[in-house]
Amino acid sequence: MNNVWSQYVQTTEELYRSREMRFNDSNAALWLKAIGVKSGQNILEVGCAGGVFCHKIKKYVPDVKITGLDLDTGHIEYAKAKTAELGLDCEFVNGDATAMPFADNTFDLCYSHTVAEHIPHKPFFGEQYRVLKPGGKIVDLSVRTRLELRNIHEYGGSDEEKALLEKAWSNAGDFDKEHNIGAFEMDEHEYPKELEKAGFHDVNVDFLTVVDYAPDNASVSDDIAIKQINSIRIGCLACAQKAFNRVPDALTEHEKSRLINLINERFDKRIKQYNDGEKLWDFSTSTILVVSGKK
Ligand SMILES: C[S@@+](CC[C@H](N)C(=O)[O-])C[C@H]1O[C@@H](n2cnc3c(N)ncnc32)[C@H](O)[C@@H]1O
Repeated sequence: MNNVWSQYVQTTEELYRSREMRFNDSNAALWLKAIGVKSGQNILEVGCAGGVFCHKIKKYVPDVKITGLDLDTGHIEYAKAKTAELGLDCEFVNGDATAMPFADNTFDLCYSHTVAEHIPHKPFFGEQYRVLKPGGKIVDLSVRTRLELRNIHEYGGSDEEKALLEKAWSNAGDFDKEHNIGAFEMDEHEYPKELEKAGFHDVNVDFLTVVDYAPDNASVSDDIAIKQINSIRIGCLACAQKAFNRVPDALTEHEKSRLINLINERFDKRIKQYNDGEKLWDFSTSTILVVSGKK
């Protein structure tokens, strides 16, 4: 049983809801091209969390065989339940990216999204090399946070909310350091070098920029706009919940529920503004480094 990520780092719901907005109906073709998905492939996603990318790929290219692997037990349980709910045929395996339970030369395509930065490079890329078929493709997707454009803080938290959140996170300690969270981050030029070191050839670097939040855009339906606003709400609620999990006594029960209420009020207000036709033009973008290579 391993729930380090889902309980203390990024909750399954938070990851699922934000990625669902990042890889959406209007940009699906860009993602499928960036990942290099082709009909009939046997595909592995390493570090799949709740399985959102596997679900998206299966939705748009139904005749692939797709498997997601993650170390976190909670993420994998969620992925399996969501797969059944969506009526999709995807497989999910609880396992370690540095010692994967798959035979050599199994997959046509191995990809990962924001995972390499948390795992030692040699076993991470080496294991993917081992399980890929000769001629198979690796694709590493990594969000470049310094290229992110966001102006979603216009309706940011009140002083009371900020103070409660700060108190909730006080004394959280060095948890991230102890669990290697972000310990293996690389600059853009280091990814292709690591792929070559692992034995990959035909290495390429590319970038994908997507708008993942823009509820006031004319092209965004009411349903998606509300989902976008709620995906940011889920992220803020998850931030508070993770603090409660890490430091259970930092806030009293009364303060915890006050913080949750303040966050919800903020997003209820944003939804009301949306429904009243009051435009804020708040948006966010993600720029993703896409490094690929062949075995
Ligand atoms: C930043 S999250 C990204 C999740 C997913 N790819 C996404 O973008 O939503 C990193 C993921 O890597 C997983 N992970 C961390 N170490 C791992 C390991 N050694 N083996 C497999 N998965 C691992 C975590 O559980 C988490 O789901």
